[in-house]
Amino acid sequence: MVFVPFVADLRALRGYRSMRLSQVVNIADLRRLAQRRLPPVVFDYIDGGAEDEITLRANERAFADVTFRPRQCVETPNPDLRTTVLGTTFDVPFLLAPLGFCRMFYPRGESVSAREAHDAGTAYILSTFSGQRLEDVRADAPGVLWYQLYVPGGRAVAEATIARARAAGYSALVVTIDTPVSGMRERDIRRGAGALMKGTIGDKLRHAAQFATHPRWVIGYVRDGAPRVFPNVALPGVGPMPCGDTGVLLAETNVTWKDLAWIRSAWRGPIVIKGVQTGDVARQAVDAGADAVIVSNHGGRQLDGVAASLQVLPEVVEAVGHRVDVLMDGGIRRGADIVKARCLGARAVLIGRAYGWALGAAGGPGVARAIAILKADLVRTMRLLGCASFDELSGAFVDGPLA
Ligand SMILES: Cc1cc2nc3c(=O)[nH]c(=O)nc-3n(C[C@H](O)[C@H](O)[C@H](O)COP(=O)(O)O)c2cc1C
Repeated sequence: MVFVPFVADLRALRGYRSMRLSQVVNIADLRRLAQRRLPPVVFDYIDGGAEDEITLRANERAFADVTFRPRQCVETPNPDLRTTVLGTTFDVPFLLAPLGFCRMFYPRGESVSAREAHDAGTAYILSTFSGQRLEDVRADAPGVLWYQLYVPGGRAVAEATIARARAAGYSALVVTIDTPVSGMRERDIRRGAGALMKGTIGDKLRHAAQFATHPRWVIGYVRDGAPRVFPNVALPGVGPMPCGDTGVLLAETNVTWKDLAWIRSAWRGPIVIKGVQTGDVARQAVDAGADAVIVSNHGGRQLDGVAASLQVLPEVVEAVGHRVDVLMDGGIRRGADIVKARCLGARAVLIGRAYGWALGAAGGPGVARAIAILKADLVRTMRLLGCASFDELSGAFVDGPLA
């Protein structure tokens, strides 16, 4: 029946009017708020994973397999949440992960998120598939910025971007290695996410019904210029790379260990390899010159069926933890998840959807709320656990099949 989706959208519109940020108590609430406030094509782009979403679910579930072993009757009035990664000390032990197409979630979404990261005393990692110029994000956000590298367009294009990132003061280069081709994101195909990103008028008409029920999103998106290019990928003879299907874009971004040599000589600063899923690959990454690694499966958006990041973390820590900093991401929805990741050896974590939903739900205040929720969770969990400092968390505080 034609009117059924329409009625569902009207319900969403009612919810969109009545839900308030002040009512949000956890990250799941921010997800629900984003679901009401964003057109389904945008919400599913953030929320979805590859194929049957087995890895996406596994990432979240893995945290339940780790149980706590608290030390009671100790003083923990004000737990120290700081952690040091690549020599930089952050006030909170989570960084904001690179998310492509943030301007679809919220106008100037990259700058908005980077500013909140700065205010929280942590780093923002800008995706190659950012809709904003890396220099503009730097101008808007004075804090620690890292640049995430894909290599669409090949070596010369990437070298030009790397030079710009260096000149703009980005302090680490994050090279993502889990995207030799795009994962099969079926929600994006069904919703027509590629058409929205490509953005001819004809393409956009496909989403007319969703737009009609999400007028505030449409106004923000149009006022923001309905971005259609990636300004940090300058293709010779073309200019800024047009947005298209992520599948097509990612097919051109395969990175091999050989590429690491020229990337290193172009960058000259710390290099972080993102997308490590086994101890062997972690070793290869460090042998190839990585200064840190991120255990990640792209939030379950690439190879469906790989193990949860948390499950792989101990293997990677054992392989390279004595040589470089090991970070992880995937499925972090509560501060307790971050504590568990630290107990299994992560120096810090990245949050992805937790702030992506928040950005879509309420812009900067939404991201600030997500950060505040995770911080409060961390403090409470560490006090209940009887640990005064994030640095001191260890395997002694956890149990279960992964510990
Ligand atoms: C909407 C979205 C866009 C993403 N875009 C990128 C990207 O451009 N580059 C990248 O390295 N990872 C990208 N990722 C993966 C994240 O950096 C991160 O690994 C993942 O979101 C962590 O899982 P979580 O969302 O469960 O926290 C993206 C993830 C999402 C949800």
